[in-house]
Amino acid sequence: MNSVEQLVVTAQADFLAAPDAAALENAKAKYLGKTGQITELMKGLGKLAADERKAQGAIINAGKEQIENALTARREALANAQMLLRLNAEAIDVTLPGRGRSLGGLHPVMRSWERIEAIFGSIGFEVADGPEIENDWTNFTALNNPENHPARSMQDTFYIDGKDATGLPLLLRPHTSPMQVRYARRNKPPIKVIAPGRTYRVDSDATHSPMFHQVEGLWIADNISFADLKGVYLNFVKAFFETDDLQVRFRPSYFPFTEPSAEIDIAFGSGPLKGRWLEVSGAGQVHPNVVRNFGLDPEQFVGFAFGSGIERLTMLRYGINDLRLFYEGDLRFLKQFN
Ligand code: DAH
Repeated sequence: MNSVEQLVVTAQADFLAAPDAAALENAKAKYLGKTGQITELMKGLGKLAADERKAQGAIINAGKEQIENALTARREALANAQMLLRLNAEAIDVTLPGRGRSLGGLHPVMRSWERIEAIFGSIGFEVADGPEIENDWTNFTALNNPENHPARSMQDTFYIDGKDATGLPLLLRPHTSPMQVRYARRNKPPIKVIAPGRTYRVDSDATHSPMFHQVEGLWIADNISFADLKGVYLNFVKAFFETDDLQVRFRPSYFPFTEPSAEIDIAFGSGPLKGRWLEVSGAGQVHPNVVRNFGLDPEQFVGFAFGSGIERLTMLRYGINDLRLFYEGDLRFLKQFN
């Protein structure tokens, strides 16, 4: 082996041993740099005789080319290795399913709420909205439910510390009936309105939740009778449950704000609940004292009111047997309605 061949072998080994691009460039300088060993050999050619210079020059050039090839090969190998490292570090598993975007949907109680608005809207009822924090007068007294009257205890109300601006005690409304008073005092008869909304009671079991929904209905004019209540409500439940195969019964009851008062029961003619009477609402002819509290003359204005539980209607429509399912936020339950 001559000295050039020896140099090539050492350079090749040196390049292979370089662990990264910077080390490789340093190694390159040792052979091909300005003072590198090949460069030095080239410089030495000048001292040789012409024919010897030619032969030696060819040998050095061949060695230089081999070293350059080794350098290029090692550069590529290092670059590839680095690319591979990077690809592994940034690996994306293209076989993983995408996250997607889940579509929201209406809560079943909300679907009922919207259906109720649509059905009553189609027969000319306005839709009203009012406060969930109500005052004692509007919630009780105006509805013919005087202080200390035992009927107040029908509702286990959440009372709130503090009073409103006029000094009235405050509470979370236990029913939507105060909306009768609020709406009737601000609007002229004929009054034909529903007021759906959230209501609150100190209650919690399979059929009661501390927060639930009711829809109040009120129709006051100069000749609105109990017969109108029956007609309106029967048509409502037929539309709501999408069946004509349905019976409605008015069972005598007591509410301070109506006289006579009734609870409304329905029975399906078919389906899993066939033949059973189920309570869906309270109702009645609005009591003259309440009409007076509307700011109207009860000799001139009469009509009916009702208050229905929206959860109850929803449970009957979909065959749900536990009210608490509505509030657990379990998507497996909720997705079935969308
Ligand atoms: N507010 C009553 C309740 O929550 C339901 C009710 C009964 C509403 C009779 C009415 C009515 O408008 O006339 O128990």
